[in-house]
Order: sequence, then structure tokens, then C-alpha cells
Amino acid sequence: MTHIVVLGSANMDLVAYAGRLPGPGETVTGRDFRTAPGGKGANQAVAAVRAGAEVSMIGAVGSDPYGSALRASLESAGVDTDLLRTVEGPSGTAHVTVDDDGRNTIVVVPGANGAVESLLPGDDTLIATADALLLQLELPLSAVVEGAQAARRHGVRTVLTPAPAVPLPPELLGATDLLVPNQHEAAALTGIADPHGAAEALLRQVPQTVITLGAAGSLHAARGAEPVMVPAPEVDAVDTTAAGDTFTGVLAVALAEGRPVRDALAWASSAAALSVQRLGAAPAMPYRKEIDAL
Ligand code: RIB
Repeated sequence: MTHIVVLGSANMDLVAYAGRLPGPGETVTGRDFRTAPGGKGANQAVAAVRAGAEVSMIGAVGSDPYGSALRASLESAGVDTDLLRTVEGPSGTAHVTVDDDGRNTIVVVPGANGAVESLLPGDDTLIATADALLLQLELPLSAVVEGAQAARRHGVRTVLTPAPAVPLPPELLGATDLLVPNQHEAAALTGIADPHGAAEALLRQVPQTVITLGAAGSLHAARGAEPVMVPAPEVDAVDTTAAGDTFTGVLAVALAEGRPVRDALAWASSAAALSVQRLGAAPAMPYRKEIDAL
């Protein structure tokens, strides 16, 4: 079975559903509120395990009730949490607002995630056993760089989601095999709004990239290969939170299973399309059978 290791965040998502997103200084009345497990790392872990991989998560939760709930939710999904630390203090939280079109805004408060500044010896050993290491930017950059470099040393494929978008240090780009930004992150990294142009610019820094384009699908570009664009299934979105995490977790499984790029993108797009039709982050993620059926 494919083994994926995720080095990333776990957050409790505090989600308000409202007709529209408030502007600066504005108050709008919401119609519903939910808490749900999230965090880009944990979301990718759940997406990958439901897609059929064996998944281990390295990161941290706090000593508060959210911390136990986040750990329990990963464990009940079947994710190995042996190297998920519990640190004194609050867990990460994400303050999410979702509008009637399923669009969101998110403020992330790192909490315990901020304590993961470097790898522990066991982390390195676990990474060495993986088919792929999934990374995002909700942990301190020092740990992300260290993780990517450890994976590189062990010949393990690294998949980096550059979110939240920050300038990427050369040592991280140098240890990244596949970069998966959304179109806004790709534009922020390159200064180029057009996804094809942005992909071309990114290939000067990493060997392979997939830019997610929301309802328009995804674009794959690799050095020395023709770009591949795969449309997304048309669906009515109710909540797009973690659609990108679903896509990336499932894409990593597909590539680790050796699927051709076009199939892998289509499979990951189907998973994301299923997730946006349900509320919440991790709870919305589809199982392998559902993805295959779509
Ligand atoms: O990518 C979606 C995730 O971003 C949410 O689950 C939230 O926790 C933030 O990390």
C-alpha cells in the first residue's frame, strides 16, 4: 500500500455560514455555526487516507479540548498519529466564514502548530519510509524546510502546497519535487496572473507544478513535457473550504500509485468536486469508492 507522510498543521475550524462575506469594518448576520476538524496538514492526511493510502501525520495539537478532538478525529479516520505531538497551550484554530456561493475567508491562529520548529529524530526515520511527503506552510518554515530536505536526502517525493502564500526560500524550492499552488498563490509567487505563464515561471524553480484553478480544473506543467489541463466536474458548491487540500492529498496518492498525470488530475478533481458539495473541511472528504464512482 502507498505510504504518505504529512508534515503539517491541525486546526479546529470555527465556521460561520452567512449570505455574504463581510467587508472591512462590516458586521453581517450569519445563519449557522459549526466546529469541524481542519488544518491544511490534517485535511491532506484525511484526504489521502480516504483515497486508500496508509498515512502518518507529523505535527502538533494543543493540550486543550480541541487538541484531543483533533487527535481523535485523525485516529478515527485511520491516520497514524504516533508522531503527532501534544504541546502545552491552545491548539491551532481557523476562523472561517463561508458565503452562499461556498466561497470563504480564513484567519488561521497557529497555536500548537507554531511549536513545530524542527524535526525530532523519529520524524526523520518515518519520512525515510514514505512514498511521498506532503508539506504546507501552516507550520514554522524552519520545520517545513527541514522536512523537505530530509525527504530529499531519503529519495522521497516532496509535494508542497505553498499556502498561506509567503515568499519561498531557495532551500525549500530546491527540495520540492511537486509544487501545488492555487491560481492566487501561483500569481503571488511569480507576479504572473495567467496560470500558463505562472506555471512556466515556476518551472524555473521546481521540476513539476500543478496549479489548481477552482471550478476550471487544474493545470499540470513539468520540465520537458507539454502542459496538461484537466477540467473539473461541474457541481454546485456549498463550501469550498479544503477543496485544495482534498485535491492535493488525493493527487499525491494517485501519483504514488503510478497513475499517469492526466488520470491523477482527473481523480483528484473528482475528489475535490465531491468535497465542495458537503460542509466542513475534513468531514467533507470523499472515500476512494465515491471518487471512483464519479
Ligand atoms: O485549507 C483549508 C484549511 O485552511 C482549513 O481547514 C483551515 O483550518 C485552514 O488551515
